[in-house]
Amino acid sequence: MQVTRTLPELRECLTTRPRPIGLVPTMGFLHAGHLALVRRARAECATAAVSIFVNPAQFGPQEDLARYPRDLPRDLRMLESAGADVVWVPEADEVYPRGYQTYVTVGRVAEPLEGAARPGHFRGVATVVAKLFNAFTPDHAYFGQKDAQQAAVIRQMARDLNFPPEIIVCPTIRESDGLAMSSRNTYLDPQERRAAAVLYRALSAAMIAYQRGQRSADNLRAAMRDTLSTEPLAKMEYVSAADPDTLQELDRVDGNALFSMAVRIGKTRLIDNFLLKDGSWDTGLIQGKGE
Ligand code: PAJ
Repeated sequence: MQVTRTLPELRECLTTRPRPIGLVPTMGFLHAGHLALVRRARAECATAAVSIFVNPAQFGPQEDLARYPRDLPRDLRMLESAGADVVWVPEADEVYPRGYQTYVTVGRVAEPLEGAARPGHFRGVATVVAKLFNAFTPDHAYFGQKDAQQAAVIRQMARDLNFPPEIIVCPTIRESDGLAMSSRNTYLDPQERRAAAVLYRALSAAMIAYQRGQRSADNLRAAMRDTLSTEPLAKMEYVSAADPDTLQELDRVDGNALFSMAVRIGKTRLIDNFLLKDGSWDTGLIQGKGE
């Protein structure tokens, strides 16, 4: 596994690597969710490439950029054992040199939900992913269903700007109580960590209501809200039952919907979702089961 720092070093290293190249963009502090993406890239591509970059452009001024968890030696050990071939760990001024002034703004799909709650977030994500696509020129790029709207925004950007890589979205990897793995879970104290399982229970409540015949999106959103309200440490930011491609809220749910939510547990903001696609549920994978 080759670890590169500057863009010329990365470019040089990639010239000797076979195609297809699969890229897994990350912000580091890796967990089994990231590693599932790397293993998928490893299985499907001749070269599995990973970026580790805590992207300042996608954090709001009041957000957790400064305290975002970092542990590069541990990340590199995990990537080595997952079979990564090339890793790029740029400094912020390599990606955004002095005088930087070009940004990618995706339209409607980036506006609701996370886009509304975190102004400028998807502009930062789209910009850095565009730069990563230019840096690696990957044939395939791997993203997690955990960040469903992010995946939709990147798909839209790739289509609109004719970026070549195929965008592949992989299932959410979960802890044994259903909590979606996230680098931010390390912020939770033990009591908050127990409370955080309520997101999975709330999404499950909507799924069960749907399976029992409930088709009203208002009632399905209410099922999520009611479950969240049983957990005193959970403060709901939004619950949504939306079209999975446009992210517009639905009136009726029939076969296709993204059920998603953002919830604060103490100071930590968590997001999660279940996807209903052509009548089947993608609820992710509990780690250790079927992975
Ligand atoms: P980060 O949060 O590090 O996540 C990197 C990738 O791992 C994303 O595609 C994310 O959806 C995926 N991922 C995170 N948790 C997951 C889980 N539990 N199961 C499956 N996949 C999971 O998302 C970002 O970084 C950044 O926005 C980035 C795309 C790197 C741009 O800066």
